[in-house]
Amino acid sequence: TSHQPLKGKKALVTAGPTQEPLDPVRYISNHSSGKMGIAIADALATAGADVTLVLGPTHLSATHPGVHTLRVVTAADMYNRSADHFAGSNIVVMAAAVADYRPKQVADIKIKKGAGDELTLELEKNTDILRTLGAQRPAGQVLVGFSLETNNEKEYALKKLHEKNLDLVVMNSLNDAGAGFNHDTNKVTLFDRQGNARELPLKSKKEVAEDIVKAITAMTGQQ
Ligand code: PMT
Repeated sequence: TSHQPLKGKKALVTAGPTQEPLDPVRYISNHSSGKMGIAIADALATAGADVTLVLGPTHLSATHPGVHTLRVVTAADMYNRSADHFAGSNIVVMAAAVADYRPKQVADIKIKKGAGDELTLELEKNTDILRTLGAQRPAGQVLVGFSLETNNEKEYALKKLHEKNLDLVVMNSLNDAGAGFNHDTNKVTLFDRQGNARELPLKSKKEVAEDIVKAITAMTGQQ
């Protein structure tokens, strides 16, 4: 019977990588395990929210029984499932590492090794889920995005905060030990629209998720 400040709120979370197929045996992806977004889904459910988790390919799962998980493979699938739940959500947190590009052609049989030494792949852009949905966010919704970079981290994080119409951006950098993909820990800085920056020390993804949920709860109270 813990305190449930988000009781009655609906939340949407994206997590994990996407896989963009080239042929029936190969795909383009990234190193996301889903841990960070899953921890956020669990923390939101613990705070009482009714949570839908749109989860890219990973062997991990949410542990809180209140999290409703929709498993997806490609960025296009993730966009479609997220779009289904976006307008009805009071809280949205996008922690997924979505492929920015997909192979332009997906072969329906295995691509065979050719005679030449090179193979050129053509890629086309995926929809930016957060940017597209952020442009049509309903009044009163709390919208949170992530930013993962290897350089100019703060500049890019603030750009995403404004261009993707977010209330909060969670910045993590591959330059910090124990931060980013697959670790059980993360080191993040939270930037809000009022210009506040809160740099948190390295801590478990569970604790980072709890800090993010506290920040969300404070913003939910204001709206
Ligand atoms: O899953 P883990 O192994 O625990 O690792 C956690 C994490 C590093 C994946 C996570 O902390 C994180 O940073 N997630 C966002 C990764 C990312 O791809 O960030 P980005 O800066 O490229 O994207 C910015 C924001 O736009 C993100 O909220 C992303 O979900 C969203 N986006 C990006 C591209 C796209 N096509 N659609 C999107 O919605």
